[in-house]
Amino acid sequence: MSEKIGSVAVVGGGIGGMQAALDLADSGMKVYLVESKPGIGGVMSMLDKTFPTNDCAMCTMAPRLVEIARHKDIEVISHSDIEKIEGKPGKLKLTLKTKARFIDVEKCTGCGSCTENCPVRNIVQPIPLEEKEKVELLPEIKERVFDIVRKHSHKKGPLMPILQEVSEYLKYFPEDVLKYISQETGYPLAHICRIATFYSGFSLKPIGKYIINVCLGTACYVRGSEKLLERFSDVLEIGQDETTPDMLFTIKSVRCIGCCGLSPVATIGDDVYGKLQARDIPGIIKKYKEKEKE
Ligand code: FES
Repeated sequence: MSEKIGSVAVVGGGIGGMQAALDLADSGMKVYLVESKPGIGGVMSMLDKTFPTNDCAMCTMAPRLVEIARHKDIEVISHSDIEKIEGKPGKLKLTLKTKARFIDVEKCTGCGSCTENCPVRNIVQPIPLEEKEKVELLPEIKERVFDIVRKHSHKKGPLMPILQEVSEYLKYFPEDVLKYISQETGYPLAHICRIATFYSGFSLKPIGKYIINVCLGTACYVRGSEKLLERFSDVLEIGQDETTPDMLFTIKSVRCIGCCGLSPVATIGDDVYGKLQARDIPGIIKKYKEKEKE
């Protein structure tokens, strides 16, 4: 077979364009991947899950993004539109128009500092609450929550560290605590709730000391992780997203925790259980219960 030579332009850096660029480059062509947006990824990068497997879109895209960035025969030309196509099939010439980025591309490391400091970005402004809306917390938690809020409130973007630390302390967000954070930081309650409900690591309900996360991503699912979920439910006599009455265990499911090679996988707190078998589950739960008695 004769060696392939020449170059090809793939227009559009969505998931289809990315895969086409990889296939062409792997077959020996020099590939120019042209994308009109500032970065490749297309609509898929905006999705959380994808049909029909419910896999996270990023898990599908990330390996391709890395491969493209590393591939010696792929050149990504983003933020550019095709202005003119000349020539005939087999010998086409493309003229591109690259839009201004207002940064030095050579120096950009993607740190995001420019976004944080953008003077025209729509930043949520704290709104002072009126006196009559003041919330008082229970005395046993007030001091600690007050300390956490005070520790971070002078920082830029204080909500995330405040919510993380409060979540670590209380394990969930009681309504009064969210209102208190809103009152003390001046951020609207709706904005705080948006963050508190977005991340699966945060909870608005009391949760157990040990969070059991059973992975239902594709690799784990095809190796029977749904059976693991059922077994955990049977052993603990609670359903998914429920907590045992002794507040020790909460069962949750996740989509891919990034160790598909060990599938099926479940985590309990910080412990990872790879290649987990349903028959091992009663013993594992017993171990945690015994640890609590010590
Ligand atoms: S699918 Fe990736 S860890 Fe389960």
